[in-house]
Amino acid sequence: MPIPTIEFKNNSVKIIDQTRLPVSYKIISCKNIKQLWEAIRTMQVRGAPALGVAAAFGVYLGIKDFRGNNNQFLKKLKSVIRYLGSSRPTAVNLFWSLERMNKLARKNRNKPVAQIKMMILKEAKKIFQEDRFVSRKMGDFGQGLIKNNDRILTICNAGALATADYGTALALIYKAKEKGKNIKVFACETRPLLQGARLTTWELKKHKIDTTLICDNMAASLMSQKKIDKVITGADRIASNGDSANKIGTYNLAVLAKYHHIPFYIVAPSSSFDLKLKTGKGIPIEQRSKEEVTVINNKRIAAKNVKVYNPAFDVTPHQLITAIVTEKGIIRPPFIKNIKRLLKNA
Ligand code: MRU
Repeated sequence: MPIPTIEFKNNSVKIIDQTRLPVSYKIISCKNIKQLWEAIRTMQVRGAPALGVAAAFGVYLGIKDFRGNNNQFLKKLKSVIRYLGSSRPTAVNLFWSLERMNKLARKNRNKPVAQIKMMILKEAKKIFQEDRFVSRKMGDFGQGLIKNNDRILTICNAGALATADYGTALALIYKAKEKGKNIKVFACETRPLLQGARLTTWELKKHKIDTTLICDNMAASLMSQKKIDKVITGADRIASNGDSANKIGTYNLAVLAKYHHIPFYIVAPSSSFDLKLKTGKGIPIEQRSKEEVTVINNKRIAAKNVKVYNPAFDVTPHQLITAIVTEKGIIRPPFIKNIKRLLKNA
């Protein structure tokens, strides 16, 4: 049962407003680039692959009404791309998508502007369709890692709501279920913005998957009681050596999994790899506002003016990762060699 996280209809980008889930299901309509930028920044749309799709349509929104010659068009495109790139820094899918648009326009720079605009829209639709395909492919490859009756721990939301309509980490679970495997999922609530509690539980319940919500600090306790068989998460940016940035708290889970001898899997499409980076040290980590930590449901829960540390992501060192599932296959250590081999054409 695909969930229409993001769609392009009637010249606007339709998005399920993820800040309202699970209390209400509302589709918002972004008719211009500013609205789309705001939707990304405020996380009405979120999750690395979904950000790639949103950015692609965002480019079209930014240039569709442009009037002028080819040189002026390329200048406009550059400013549109820079603006969209300023929305959120960590998920490389967003920049991968913007770069795809940039390359396409430059390659066709001498064609009539109206034609380049149409090519940009077509490319955005292609990115959207590719994401749908790639999610299912990751599910097909990765579901074999899941055994009947596995109890799987995940964090944040790496499902349909983080992609065009299907998922990364959760795609494995959907495909395993289709194969008749019985699976239990433990979802970390994922402070501060509660993507696990609000989005993953909503999505898994919709798919009739046995789901238990835990607070983030309960993972060690569950593992020590031998109640977790696997940890499976998504990623926002993966360096050449396999170091993987994902939602803050993922690194904690990887350390705990290693200590308890539990396999730890990352699931991400090739568009989440940043092969320009040798290690995870170069991954830009988004810092978000202190209010995300100090205020819940408009209620302050911390001392006034307390200092706050609020990085949205952390980096899991590759030594803690058992394997990375992509749409091209499963990558196991040694990661430097095997990532290069599998993704050399990415
Ligand atoms: O801040 P968010 O909600 O955009 O963070 C999302 C995640 O960390 C996901 O796990 C990641 O994007 C992979 S999802 C397919």
